[in-house]
Amino acid sequence: AYTAEPFVPDEAGDLDALRRAAADCRGCPLHRDATQTVFGTGNDHARVMLVGEQPGDQEDRQGKPFVGPAGRLLDRALAEAGIDPGDAYVTNAVKHFKFTQAEPRKRRIHKTPTLREMTACGPWLAAELAVVEPELIVLLGATAGKALLGSSFRVGEVRGALLEREIHGRPEKLVATVHPSSVLRAQDDKDRKAAYEGLVADLKVAARALS
Ligand code: URA
Ligand code: SF4
Repeated sequence: AYTAEPFVPDEAGDLDALRRAAADCRGCPLHRDATQTVFGTGNDHARVMLVGEQPGDQEDRQGKPFVGPAGRLLDRALAEAGIDPGDAYVTNAVKHFKFTQAEPRKRRIHKTPTLREMTACGPWLAAELAVVEPELIVLLGATAGKALLGSSFRVGEVRGALLEREIHGRPEKLVATVHPSSVLRAQDDKDRKAAYEGLVADLKVAARALS
C-alpha cells in the first residue's frame, strides 16, 4: 500500500524537521507530477489547526498552503469569525497537488485525492498533530473530515457543531465546515453569499470553542 510512513522521522522533533523530511516524501505517486511538497505552516503551538484538502495550483508553485484564491477567502472568513491567523496552524490532508492537464502549459485542473492517497499521506498529518497539539481542529471540507474521522464522514451531517472524537489515541475537539473552494464554486452571487455566511457561522463556533 502507498504510505508516507518510511519517510516520517522516528523522533517527532519539531515542525521544521518534519517539513524537511516531507520534502523528500515518495509515499504515493502524487509527488511525481507536483512541483513540491506543501507542508503546513504557522505557529508550532497554535491553538487551532485548520485542515484543508490538498494544495492547489498556487500552493504547488509557492510551496505554502492556502495562498491562492481559496486561501484569501479563508483569511477573510477567519477574520470575520474572530480567529487570529497568528493562533492558527494551517495544513492539508494531502501534501502534493493532484491535477489533470490536457496538454503541457495548459491550465492544471484540481482532482480530488482518493482515499488511498489520503491514507498514504495520513502519517504527516498525524505527526503535525503530535507536535502542535492544538486545542481545536477545524476540518475544511470532506477530504479533511475523511482523513481524520474516517470515510463515512459527511460535512453536511456535522458542520457547525463542536465534536469530540478520539484521534490517534488522543481526545480531540473538532469543528467541521465546508471547504472555502466550494464557496468560490457557487453558481451565482446569492448562493455564494449564503455559502460564505455559512462558512463564517461555522468558524464562529470554532472561535467560541477557543475563547
Ligand atoms: N485548497 C486546499 O484545500 N488547500 C490549500 O492549501 C489550497 C486550496
Ligand atoms: Fe508523500 Fe503525501 Fe506527497 Fe503522497 S501526497 S508523496 S504521501 S507527501
